[in-house]
Amino acid sequence: MDVWLLDGKIKTLLHLSPAARKALQRGDLDIYVHLSANHPSIHLSSNDAFWAEAKELGLQLRCTLLTDAFEVRKVSFESLHEVMDKDLQVLADSLQLQQNSSVLDMMCGYGAVGASLLAYATQKNIKISLTLCDLHETQMAAMPPALRSQAHSVQIGDARNAPFPDESFDAVANKMGNHDVPHHEQPTTFQEMFRILKPGGVFSIWDVIFDDAEMQDAFNDVIRRKDLLAGYESYLCDRYFFRKDQAERMFREAGFTEVKLIHQVHYLQSTLKRRDAELGGDPRKLQELNQYILQRISGSLRDRMQLKVLGDDIQFVVPNRIMTAIKKRAS
Ligand SMILES: C[S@@+](CC[C@H](N)C(=O)[O-])C[C@H]1O[C@@H](n2cnc3c(N)ncnc32)[C@H](O)[C@@H]1O
Repeated sequence: MDVWLLDGKIKTLLHLSPAARKALQRGDLDIYVHLSANHPSIHLSSNDAFWAEAKELGLQLRCTLLTDAFEVRKVSFESLHEVMDKDLQVLADSLQLQQNSSVLDMMCGYGAVGASLLAYATQKNIKISLTLCDLHETQMAAMPPALRSQAHSVQIGDARNAPFPDESFDAVANKMGNHDVPHHEQPTTFQEMFRILKPGGVFSIWDVIFDDAEMQDAFNDVIRRKDLLAGYESYLCDRYFFRKDQAERMFREAGFTEVKLIHQVHYLQSTLKRRDAELGGDPRKLQELNQYILQRISGSLRDRMQLKVLGDDIQFVVPNRIMTAIKKRAS
């Protein structure tokens, strides 16, 4: 478990199992504090010695569990991600589905991608066996009952430790999921998707994927500010939008070949839309987000992101992309 500094206070990262939570309450769980490059990591534990050591070090500690963003964030991803049928069609085409293909919608949320894959199969007159998997029951709770009954299987599971045997699937799709895994764990999800694919299988991702670090850093910062204002505390520690070269490296290092960028659209960001979907309609939060964006996105980056101020709304674009790769058959 990591402990993060948030607003000057130390908070524990939420992803705790019920057993770990109990251990934290009992005070016998070890905690490692990573403050910054200037501070060496300090090993503390949540028993009395933890607080004594903290006091000795002069740290003002308040140990509170972070709000798990996935427990409180209830949005329409189709609306927020500006999903178009033609983009879903590209994603489905990339998976090379055939009669009886087994396909996994990983980090499925309420299953919109899986539903589109079933519709695609019907349109192609083929049968597919669809598995839906996500870590958060709260997100899956909004899955339509009809989709649940059409799916071969619906599972709670972590992409970093996928609950499937080796070589289970012909294809895996992951839309807007990888950026929700902490940066240092993202390679693990690619390795896991490689492991559970059959030889010859396809892994396709759809995500906001950048070309350069300047735009990537600005977007990560803006989204972090939005998440802070929205109260999505765990996102502040976990989320990381990556670049194309980083995605290529993660695919290749996991063992994939034929790594390709196959589709790209401009993904329009609108702060008014975020206000209504994620900031509880609060005009002060909108104003704070707008001010932050104007200060954070400046100079030529503003032009490159096509930033526009339209009254209360700030709009800009980032690249939404689909990348695909193959688990090569042994020759
Ligand atoms: C932005 S949502 C996208 C949902 C869906 N793919 C879509 O586009 O409609 C990200 C999803 O990833 C899930 N998630 C986050 N971390 C996960 C992990 N480590 N393993 C599995 N699912 C995870 C969340 O619960 C959430 O449903």
